[in-house]
This record gives sequence, C-alpha cells and structure tokens, in this order.
Amino acid sequence: MKKKLVVLTGAGMSQESGIRTFRDMGGLWEEYDVTEVATPEAWERNPELVMKFYNDRRKQLYESEPNKGHKGLVELEKDFDVQIITQNVDDLHERAGASKVLHLHGELKKVRSTRYPNLIYDLDGWELKFGDLCEKGHQLRPHIVWFGEMVPAMDEAVPLVEQADILVVVGTSLNVYPAAGLVHYIREDVPVFVVDPERPPVYMKGVTFIEEKAGEGVAQLKDKLKQLI
Ligand code: APR
Repeated sequence: MKKKLVVLTGAGMSQESGIRTFRDMGGLWEEYDVTEVATPEAWERNPELVMKFYNDRRKQLYESEPNKGHKGLVELEKDFDVQIITQNVDDLHERAGASKVLHLHGELKKVRSTRYPNLIYDLDGWELKFGDLCEKGHQLRPHIVWFGEMVPAMDEAVPLVEQADILVVVGTSLNVYPAAGLVHYIREDVPVFVVDPERPPVYMKGVTFIEEKAGEGVAQLKDKLKQLI
C-alpha cells in the first residue's frame, strides 16, 4: 500500500510559471484592493471591475505552463498515493498530470450561476461576458470562493488530511482560513515538510523546512521522502 501523501499548495507553487502571488512584494493584493475585486459585495457594487479582474487572470492562465515544481509532485505518484489540496484557482497541477487535485477556492476556468451555485460550467475560452447566462437564465459569475463566502470543499479536505501519512506544504503564507487550519488536522505522528523560500507560521514538532522555491524545493523534497516510501 502506497503511503498517503497530502500536499497543501498555494500561490507560490505557480509563481515560477509567471503567476503572481497575493501577498509577496509585487503581489496581486498590492495592486488590487481585495474588497473591490474578491468579495460578493464587490460583485454587487461593480461587477465590471470584478469581471475584468478574473478575465485578465484567466487570459494569463492560458499563457502559462506548469513548472518543475508541479511536475515534481506528479513524479512522487510513483512511490506515494498523492493528494493535492490547493488554494490555487489555476489548473497547472492538472496540466502537469496530477491524478488527484481538490480545489478549495474554486477554479478560474469554470463559471457558475449567480442564482444557483451548483450550476457550474467549464468556460469556453478566457472571456466571461455579461449576458452569459446559466440554463435557468441567470448571469454567470467566476467559480471562485470570494472572501466572506463558504469553502464547501473543506468538508472533503479535512478527512483527507486526517488520513495523511505525510503532509507537505508548498508556497502558501498560511494567512487565509479555513484553508490554513488544515495543517492542524494531521495525526500526531505525521511528518511535515514545508517548501517555501520564506518560512510560513507552522509551529509544530518535527517540521522539516525546505527554504527554496517550489521547483528546487520539490526536487530536494523527493530525496528526503525516499526514506519514507
Ligand atoms: N516557490 C515556493 N513558494 C513561494 C514562491 C516560489 N517560487 N514564491 C513565493 N512563495 C511563497 C511566499 O513566501 C508565500 O509564503 O508563497 C507564499 C504565497 O503566499 P500568498 O501570496 O499569501 O498566497 P496564498 O497563501 O496561496 O494565499 C491564500 O489568499 O488571496 C487569497 O484566495 C486567495 O488562495 C489565496 C489565499
């Protein structure tokens, strides 16, 4: 039986693919006010601005490729039962070939009904427009979990972390809850590895920090995990 390796990833995972993180120097939240582009209130107040913000990010995603870090995590599937739990809304884990990916904060290439949240569709191309309606005639919005909204995928994520034999955290500042709280659902004896050039706030016994960017860090992680196969 392959050991269960759960990998919690954040924006740093995709930084080497040219996608900006949120809170680093030059991050998205330096240029945009969260309350103007990533809340349900913003969508009510100025849907044009919100629509443009996600259309621009979606356009960039079509011009981005998985990086060495994404691919390195896929290679770990040879020796481990790898489950990715990501805060990222990009599809770079899937495009790298990852078998199991759970998105906590939504998916940029999907849209959903503003009236019926369970009516979710793949968007054709990068541009969502006003007048793009769900099958019940309601405007479509980005399929993204905005600040202040529920994170339904947590119900699936918590048991996955509780069953993990190894936990890996890559490229997240662990600032945003409930996602950041997932690290506390591991069993007592589970080894934890954190890949990030800056140490995020993980105050647990037996944590191994790999202070590298994802590409190099995941390569070093592979060596360290050899003795845990
Ligand atoms: N490789 C690995 N880690 C990196 C790299 C890299 N190349 N570049 C930056 N990092 C690290 C930073 O040191 C930081 O710890 O990635 C982390 C990025 O943190 P944030 O920008 O806060 O992104 P994230 O933790 O994913 O944000 C969580 O907040 O804005 C919301 O919904 C959005 O999902 C997002 C959530």
